[in-house]
Amino acid sequence: MVKKICGIGAGYVGGPTMAVIALKCPSIEVAVVDISHSRISAWNSDKLPIYEPGLEEVIQQCRGKNLLFSTDIEKHVYEADIIFVNVNTPTKTSGLGAGKAADLTYWESAARMIADVSRSNKIVVEKSTVPVRTAEVIEKILVHNSNGMVKYQILSNPEFLSEGTSIQDLLNPDRVLIGGNDKNLGGQEAIQKLKAIYANWVPEDRIITTNLWSAELSKLADNAFLAQRISSINAMSALCEATGADVSQVSCVLSKNTKLGSKYLNASVGFGGSCFQKDILNLVYICESNGLVEVANYWKEVIKVNDYQKSRFVKKVVTSMFNTVSGKKIAVLGFSFKKDTSDTRKTPAIDVCKGLLADNACLSIYDPRVSEDQIRTDLSTNEIRWDCSTQVKPASFTNVKQVSVFGDVYEATKDAHGICVLTEWDEFKTIDYQKIFDSMEKPAFVFDGRNVLDVDKLKKIGFIVYSIGKPIDQWVDC
Ligand code: UDX
Ligand code: ADP
Repeated sequence: MVKKICGIGAGYVGGPTMAVIALKCPSIEVAVVDISHSRISAWNSDKLPIYEPGLEEVIQQCRGKNLLFSTDIEKHVYEADIIFVNVNTPTKTSGLGAGKAADLTYWESAARMIADVSRSNKIVVEKSTVPVRTAEVIEKILVHNSNGMVKYQILSNPEFLSEGTSIQDLLNPDRVLIGGNDKNLGGQEAIQKLKAIYANWVPEDRIITTNLWSAELSKLADNAFLAQRISSINAMSALCEATGADVSQVSCVLSKNTKLGSKYLNASVGFGGSCFQKDILNLVYICESNGLVEVANYWKEVIKVNDYQKSRFVKKVVTSMFNTVSGKKIAVLGFSFKKDTSDTRKTPAIDVCKGLLADNACLSIYDPRVSEDQIRTDLSTNEIRWDCSTQVKPASFTNVKQVSVFGDVYEATKDAHGICVLTEWDEFKTIDYQKIFDSMEKPAFVFDGRNVLDVDKLKKIGFIVYSIGKPIDQWVDC
């Protein structure tokens, strides 16, 4: 009988996942722990550390009842029957596999801590996306560091939630995947215990069980396939622009093919988020480590096309605006990697903004949910690139004169020469574009990086509009 669950890591995955488990399993005590004091205090406050529709309501229902947030990691790990490890596994920035392999430092330190404090048998669940065969490594760390009295069962239970819809995804998942070692009784029992937790609200036919390695690889494959679809449609968008075809029409035709389905066919300025690039690089590293160079190269192309799409967008802005944006004010609408999230990890906005800044544009940025601090941090951070190529990022990126951040869309667009829509926030569809046009320099340009705006309406107002995968107005087509 599971009485207590501990979730290590209170981030975008851990917070919502543990909260929904608490909601659906009122008889189980769920403790979410984190090394970050500021994160835990935010979870205990009225202003949660992440924005996610529906999250506040879930937290309000359970916090203080069977859900608690704490920094007393040892205590809650010691007391738990099941431990979910939701720590971050970023791409390594130095050493062997830098730029590609997953950095398992946080995972390893969590595992060592579990081994140190545990005095009763534990089921340890991998929630964080990890390279294939991580479970084996974790088991070794646990077994070799414990006193031999404690038995561990390792399960892989990858999370398939998407940010912005994570509460809905958790409440009504298309599948729950549990990987475990079903060759021994302990493994079988552990799988059944975790399955029973989800069975409180997920129909049993949606709970899939596999061996550990299939579960770990499935998560990487899942994200790689989704990202591949976006790169495929984005590659088509470049061809559409060259030929006069319309990518939305092409997408529509593809979406009616029942063999393909309708999702992940929206051409965009590029995909972002903490998962797609990281997981593909992980896959690439695993392939290379296994001597599968051709397979590695195949998946690398998905990221290359994504980088190409971002730089193509910057080039289109610069060439359309008479080959220079130097000293021109460009309003950037949207900075998060997709709508309905405050997350900016790997958002295409970072590369697009840096590209425009490299051409000496002045940026005025507005995002309904991302803080000014976050935007400035993102633009002034030099990240190691996955392909180790040189970055076009002069030190002046932090120059306050070149970047202003506004809390109001009309302020951000006032006196601008052009507007770049980089996130598909719903409010961008309904703002007063006539008012914006009247306050802008002329000719006034709109570059819709998400194909969400009403192009005909904008053109009637007088804007010159560029949408992804559609021909730009003839007279400025360069
Ligand atoms: C993804 C997976 O969807 C999820 O299953 C996994 O658990 C984590 O990674 P997430 O990164 O939260 O989720 O967002 P997702 O909705 O998949 O979007 C990723 C990026 O692709 C965003 O930048 C989004 O704007 C972009 N995208 C998505 C497109 O450009 N076009 C599309 O058609 C769909
Ligand atoms: P994700 O999107 O995968 O949830 P986040 O970065 O949002 O990633 O969250 C991961 C969380 O894990 C962070 O809040 C971080 O402080 C926490 N964390 C990392 N290592 C440990 C650890 N050893 N013990 C507890 N918490 C940890």
